[in-house]
Amino acid sequence: MKNKTRQSRFLLKKDVSADLAQKPVLPRTLSAFGLSSMGVGAIVGAGIFITPGIIAGKYAGPAVVLSFLLAAIVCSLAALCYAEFASTIPLAGSAYTYAYAVFGELIAWVLGWSLVSEYLFAVASVASSWSAYFQNLLAGMGIKLPLFLQHANSKGIDLIAILVILAISALLLVGVSESTRINAGMVIIKITVILLFIGVGLFFIKTNHYLPFIPEAFTDSAGVQHYGVGGVIAGAATAFYAYIGFDAVSTASEEVKNPKRDMPIGIIASLGIASILYMALSAVLVGIVNYQDLAKPEHQGDPVAFALTVINQNWVAAIVSLGAVIGMTTVLLVMSFGGNRLLFAISRDGLLPTSFQKISVKKQVPVRSTLIFGSSAALIAGVVPLQTIAELVNIGTLFAFAVVSLGILFLRNNEEFTQLSRQGFKVPGYPFVPILSFILCGILMLQLEKVTWFVFIIWQVLGLGLYIGYGYHHSIVRKKQRVLD
Ligand code: ALA
Repeated sequence: MKNKTRQSRFLLKKDVSADLAQKPVLPRTLSAFGLSSMGVGAIVGAGIFITPGIIAGKYAGPAVVLSFLLAAIVCSLAALCYAEFASTIPLAGSAYTYAYAVFGELIAWVLGWSLVSEYLFAVASVASSWSAYFQNLLAGMGIKLPLFLQHANSKGIDLIAILVILAISALLLVGVSESTRINAGMVIIKITVILLFIGVGLFFIKTNHYLPFIPEAFTDSAGVQHYGVGGVIAGAATAFYAYIGFDAVSTASEEVKNPKRDMPIGIIASLGIASILYMALSAVLVGIVNYQDLAKPEHQGDPVAFALTVINQNWVAAIVSLGAVIGMTTVLLVMSFGGNRLLFAISRDGLLPTSFQKISVKKQVPVRSTLIFGSSAALIAGVVPLQTIAELVNIGTLFAFAVVSLGILFLRNNEEFTQLSRQGFKVPGYPFVPILSFILCGILMLQLEKVTWFVFIIWQVLGLGLYIGYGYHHSIVRKKQRVLD
C-alpha cells in the first residue's frame, strides 16, 4: 500500500470536474468565428513568410508543397485530438491541463515545460523573421544597420529582434490585451498580402522551375539529408513550424460561448485555412524562382520578398514585407500572451514560484512572468540563428501533440471523462486516428537535427531539476491530497 502511495505521488491528477464546477466564469464572448480568426492570427506568421524558402532550398526542392501537405496531415490529426480535449475539458492551460487531468502531475510538468519552450522559441524565432523583413523595408529606404547588428551568428547579434520582443513585452506590461476585433483586422491584412503574392506571382510562373519536382537525394557531411523523399519528409518537419498556433486556440477555452461546439470548429477551421494558403503560396514561390536560389543564405530570411524582386514587382514586395511585419506582430503578441498565461497557470498550480502569478493591481498583468518571459526570448532571438530556433519550437510542440494524441486513449477509458464529454466533439476513427497521430508526430520528431534533440533533452533535465527542487514540494494538488490523507 505504502509503495502504491509512493508510486502515485508523481501521478497525482487534477480534479477537473471540480475545477470546471468551481472556476469563476470568465465572460464567455468568443464564437466559433472569433476563435477561427484568433487561430489564423496565431498560426499565420513567420512560417509562411520564411519556411517555404528554407524547405525548398534545403530539403525538398519544388516538392515543398508536398512537405506542407504532409505537415498539414499530421497537424490535422493532432488538431482533432486537441479538439476533443478542448471540448471535454474547457479549462485554460491547454495541453498542460489535459495532461494533468489524464496522466498526472509529472507528465503535466514535462509537457508544460515543453510548451514553455514552444512559446519561448516561437516568440524568439518569429522576432528573427520580423527583423529580417523589417531590415528589408529599411533597406528599401536606404537605411542599413552595421553588419554586426543585422543577424544572430558568430559575428554579431540581431538587434532588431531583441528590440521588437522588448517592445512587445513593454506593450503587454502597460496592459494591452489582444482584442478579437484588432486581431481580426490583422488577420485580414495577412490573408490579403498572401493572396496578393499568389495572385501576382501566378503570372510569372515558369513551369520548368517545377522540374525535377523532387531533386535527387544527397546527404551532406553533417549527415543531413537533402532532397529525395527523405528530404520531403525532413521538409515536413520544418513546415510543421508554420502550422503551430492552432493549439493556442485551446487556451481560450474558458472564454468561449459554447466550447463543446465552437472549440472543434475554431481549431479545425483555422488549420484548414492556413493549410490552403501555405500550399498555394509555396507552389507559386517555387514556380517563380529556382529552388536553388532559395538555398542561398542571403535569401533565406525573406524568400517571398526576394521572389517578388526577381520578377521586378518591387512595389508588391514592399507591400508584402509591410503586411508580413504587421502579421508577425500579432503572432508575437498572441504567443507572448500564451507563454505568460502558461507560466501563470503552472504557477497557479504551485509548480512554479508564486511570484509568476502576481498581478499588478493597477494594470492587471502578471508583471514578473512577462518580464522573465520577454527577456529570455529577447536573449535567445538576439544570439541564436533562426534555423536552430525554429527546430526547437517544433520539437517541444511535436512532443506536446504526441502526448495529447496518446491522451485520447486514456480520456476515452475513464468514466469521469465519459460523463464530461457527453455531446462534445469526438475524434473520428478512434482509436486509429490518435494512434496514427502519435506515430506521425514521433516520425517528425526523429527528422529533427541532433543538436535540436540535445538542446531539448538539456531543457527537460533543467525542467526536472526545477520540478524536484520546487514544484514537487509546492504543488497545490499534492497539498490537497495531504489534507485528504
Ligand atoms: N506558426 C507560427 C508562425 O508561422 C509560429 O509564425
